[in-house]
Amino acid sequence: MLVLGIETSCDETSAALVADGKEILSNVIATQLDLHRKYGGVVPEIAARRHAELIGYVVKEALDAGGKALSDVEAIAVTARQGLIGSLLVGVAAAKSLSYALHLPLIGVHHIEAHIFANLLSNPQIPVPHVCLTVSGGHTLLVYVRDYCQYELLGGTLDDAAGEAFDKIAKFLGLGFPGGPVIDRLATNGNREAFRFPRPMLKANNLDFSFSGLKTAIINTFKQSIARGEELPLEDIAASFQEAVVEVLVAKTVRAARRKQASTISVTGGVSANRRLREVFTEACRREGIQVFFPPLSLCTDNAAMIAAAGYARMQKGWRDDLNLDVIPSIPLEVQDGRGN
Ligand code: KG4
Ligand code: ZN
Repeated sequence: MLVLGIETSCDETSAALVADGKEILSNVIATQLDLHRKYGGVVPEIAARRHAELIGYVVKEALDAGGKALSDVEAIAVTARQGLIGSLLVGVAAAKSLSYALHLPLIGVHHIEAHIFANLLSNPQIPVPHVCLTVSGGHTLLVYVRDYCQYELLGGTLDDAAGEAFDKIAKFLGLGFPGGPVIDRLATNGNREAFRFPRPMLKANNLDFSFSGLKTAIINTFKQSIARGEELPLEDIAASFQEAVVEVLVAKTVRAARRKQASTISVTGGVSANRRLREVFTEACRREGIQVFFPPLSLCTDNAAMIAAAGYARMQKGWRDDLNLDVIPSIPLEVQDGRGN
């Protein structure tokens, strides 16, 4: 089945063609980063307007790049849950129009579920059950994937998402947006033990996260060095901050795997591109006898191929939406819209 996936939940306008939930024929991503950079973050109104301008072109380019015509498409999958409401509405309106005009089945997808499928697209051998850590700009979630489309939430962030912490620290340090890739790059030349920043909630006997205190600690350290007239070792701050985030993410995910007696971990979302995170996960999982999977860099951040893959899986389980499909900016993965699992 050839599925056209559409993703507009945040600041990437993306359309993809995926055959049978696994073969990516095209995955076109028009990023809006340049539009938002000067504001140091995504501006929802600007994002929605840009999606509206681009969505038609992006869908056409996905068809062209995949060597297919609209008449070849057999179903439409679109992000309808979790994201900026105006942005989501653009993608869902486009998907509904295509579905209505072409008499094609329509399926609304939860953005986090799609990140889980991003890893499966490139690593089809990932077994279920497994523990999945989704770390992005909007989410830090530990999910037990009992089966595909069957999820149990194990833990999440109580405040900032991990990617949001990277973005906020980078903004504070004047490093630009998005912060994750910049900090990742700077940290390679930094000393990760230069500053001992807090490891929030590492010792708490739960699987939740909190990153706002870490942010405050870094801001205070930065201000104290300025007050002492010291030169700021930006590389060291980046490396030490990244180390604190990585240590907590890895430790809690491994703890979750132990609790669920899972022998596989999957890590997804924009922050899963982080080189130090991959290194520490790989080493910790080797010690624990756990296998760990990451998506290729092209599937870490938001893209429509993962939406098509998740939509295909839902349709295989009999789920369909219709023109009543509405957007929901925030809803837990395991609850969705009462559709159950
Ligand atoms: O998954 P994504 O594209 O969008 C959301 O669903 O939020 O993730 C974007 C986030 C941003 O916060 C960005 O700073 C972070 O992923 N990110 C990284 C890296 N590349 C992107 N964080 C740390 N290290 C990276 N290499
Ligand atoms: Zn995302």
